Amino acid sequence: MRLSKCHNFQDFRKLAQQKLPSPIFHYIDGAAEDETTYKRNTAAFEECDLVPNILAGIKKVDMSTTIFGRKIDMPLFCAPTALQRLFHHDGERAVAKAAQKNNTMFGVSSLGTVSIEEIAELIDTPKMFQLYFHKDRDLNDAMIERAKRANFDVLALTVDSITGGNRERDVVTGFTSPPKLTLKSLISFATHPAWAINHFTHEKFRLPQLEDHVDQGTDIAISVSNYFKTMLDQSMSWQDAEDICKKWDGEFCLKGIMSVEDAKKAVDIGATGIVVSNHGGRQLDGSRSSFDQLAEIVDAVGDKIDVIFDSGIQRGTHVLKALSLGAKACAGGRLYLYALAAAGQPGVERALRLFKEEIERDMMLMGCETINQLSRQNLRFRS
Ligand code: FNR
Ligand code: LAC
Repeated sequence: MRLSKCHNFQDFRKLAQQKLPSPIFHYIDGAAEDETTYKRNTAAFEECDLVPNILAGIKKVDMSTTIFGRKIDMPLFCAPTALQRLFHHDGERAVAKAAQKNNTMFGVSSLGTVSIEEIAELIDTPKMFQLYFHKDRDLNDAMIERAKRANFDVLALTVDSITGGNRERDVVTGFTSPPKLTLKSLISFATHPAWAINHFTHEKFRLPQLEDHVDQGTDIAISVSNYFKTMLDQSMSWQDAEDICKKWDGEFCLKGIMSVEDAKKAVDIGATGIVVSNHGGRQLDGSRSSFDQLAEIVDAVGDKIDVIFDSGIQRGTHVLKALSLGAKACAGGRLYLYALAAAGQPGVERALRLFKEEIERDMMLMGCETINQLSRQNLRFRS
């Protein structure tokens, strides 16, 4: 299979599976426990149908949207994800440049493998820095300060991951960061020689947001779940979130909000946005799909802060459905990570371009020139 044969999410997924050693593929592809929430995230879109309007005299589709005070040219952006250097040797550089090409937002993870400063030098399009709240307060302060100095547009505090989700695929494959050299992993590298050669002949794997403060994850191999359990602060509270918001003193969002109550509290502490998300089903299995939760959250806070949607997006029409419910923009993880693993920057560029084309075509077919013409009047729920 080749990149030119990838036409959709599932095609990129298949190519990623061919390219990656299996523990790495399953780290991206897997989710928590029985993966019910993971499956439900995408299945939820199928219970909601679009109702198009015709003869709308469409001249030009404008799918741009403004989030956190910055205009982006498409209503879908790259959610912050960890460890990208493991998926492709260009890692975050490839994704950042592909996002810049499409003038959409790029999220950089606390567990990113390229530094905040390098990303800021590389691209001038909108950037989000994602903060994991560590027990080590100096580390938290240092990351906030670095993102501030590098002029990141928005700080996203992830609030759904105070401990590691129970991702049993990672337990079975023995996935760690950095990858541990065991007989099993060596066999898996040997059967994916192109990945292994690229991985080991390029610069050393690093976690530059963390490395001055911790060795775990960078020099000491550790599972993601153990990292969360041992390094992150399980006692993180609303007061902590408010303190971070004040310290940051700029566009600030909570990533991983799933209830109306919490969405309202986010407004109270001064957040300018939230990401309605269940972390792609990777944390609490059995939690509701974020699409099913979106409408009530938009009703409660949509006129006060930017409501962003993520988890489960595989098609342009999924984006249209979330926007119709009132999200200002959508984000996704796996939708660009498989493409990154499949083919680096050209892969991510192709994935984003295909999404853009789908969104444009589908907006025309819906009879909408701009995304604020999408509304709940265009939706019907089956049950
Ligand atoms: C993530 N996600 C994530 N979120 C976050 O706040 N910090 C992080 O470091 C990561 N890392 C990460 C790694 C991988 C491999 C995946 C798949 C996801 C969650 C991410 O930001 C987003 O919420 C989900 O990916 C959305 O679900 P979909 O689009 O993957 O279905
Ligand atoms: C994950 C983390 C790193 O989902 O957020 O794997």
